[in-house]
Amino acid sequence: MPNWNDIRRDFPILHQQVNGKPLVYLDNAATAQKPRVVIDTLSRFYERDNANVHRGLHALSNRATDAFEGARTRVAKFINAADSAEVIFTRGTTESINLVAASWGEANLKKGDVILLTEMEHHSNLVPWQLIAARTGATLRYVPVLGANAEGGLDLAVLDSLLSPEVKIFAFTHISNSLGTINPVVELCARARARGIVTVIDGAQSIGHMPVDVRAIDCDFFAFSGHKMAGVTGIGALYGRRALLDAMPPYQGGGGMISNVDFFTSRWKPSPERFEAGTPNFADAVALGAACDYLDGLGREQIAKHDAELAALAYQKLATLPGIRLLGPTDPALRSGLVSFAFPDVHAHDVVTFADEDGIALRGGHHCNQPMMRKLGLTGTTRASFYVYNTPEEIDLLVANLAKTLKFFTG
Ligand code: ALA
Repeated sequence: MPNWNDIRRDFPILHQQVNGKPLVYLDNAATAQKPRVVIDTLSRFYERDNANVHRGLHALSNRATDAFEGARTRVAKFINAADSAEVIFTRGTTESINLVAASWGEANLKKGDVILLTEMEHHSNLVPWQLIAARTGATLRYVPVLGANAEGGLDLAVLDSLLSPEVKIFAFTHISNSLGTINPVVELCARARARGIVTVIDGAQSIGHMPVDVRAIDCDFFAFSGHKMAGVTGIGALYGRRALLDAMPPYQGGGGMISNVDFFTSRWKPSPERFEAGTPNFADAVALGAACDYLDGLGREQIAKHDAELAALAYQKLATLPGIRLLGPTDPALRSGLVSFAFPDVHAHDVVTFADEDGIALRGGHHCNQPMMRKLGLTGTTRASFYVYNTPEEIDLLVANLAKTLKFFTG
């Protein structure tokens, strides 16, 4: 069992004051902070090993290639992929989903087909599907969320009727960034697979917070970002089943992804190179490998338990504030490490600004979830999201600050 208080020492950024108060960083669903070991891995790579990968025959290039491909193997192990060729490095979740939508979608979708999404999708798992639907003539359909505060999660009772023969692909989030709901991904994949429907999971909010085993989940694609799992920005990955990847056309053209080029045609390499045109982001990939080691050192079951306990405590304490509207599951077992809430008379941006005055970092707004916010009659919410270094004392500071803000606005 990790000593959660000692963990704060691993994160240099936490030891500072903001507006004269110790920083309380509760914006982890937007981006998580980085442990010293990840920062040092990145600096060490640039200080000792930096050279372009795959192309060089010199020592540094060989070292950089080994480190980059080692990171791919490490990420494959982190998600239990059968083969490291099933891991494509991308800029993050958004690019990973755009890759599937554009490449798989172009090869497989046509007029009359349906793309099934859920109402709780982040724009990154919604807009790419709108784009490919417009290009192919496919249409979009949504699994509804249940309850005035979306506390009922996805409406699984209607799922079978939504998964009709026209549905070719079903894309859904593992954990909602604006509700904290943990979706039953194994069941969703099984129900889609039984009908031959391809599945895509947006793993942005789950990858750093709980064990993720793509073979146990039995999904076809799984997209995630490094920066939400203690890695650096600008790197993430797409997991895809090998057979599907090898049947997909390239997403972008350029160096590194071809086996042969003449003036008029080209032939492609297999995955992962086929989908990694140009110089890949190898340095950040190496740092992502260090983030995987760091999180596995803590234990992902332990991280999930820690984050969920903090969220349950926050939910319970926030519920005492007058007029608060808490979104997402009421059952702590269905909630990940975040709490999203709204007050009838105080705008989320004011809540966040007043929290900042006490050194507390929150997020306010629609959280890239505009359609669902509209359905719930909200323009946005305030969100507190937790990670390995957050403490119960920080929740007390948050609740005290919110009580002060409410008093200011409502007397
Ligand atoms: N997707 C990120 C969030 O939920 C930016 O804050």
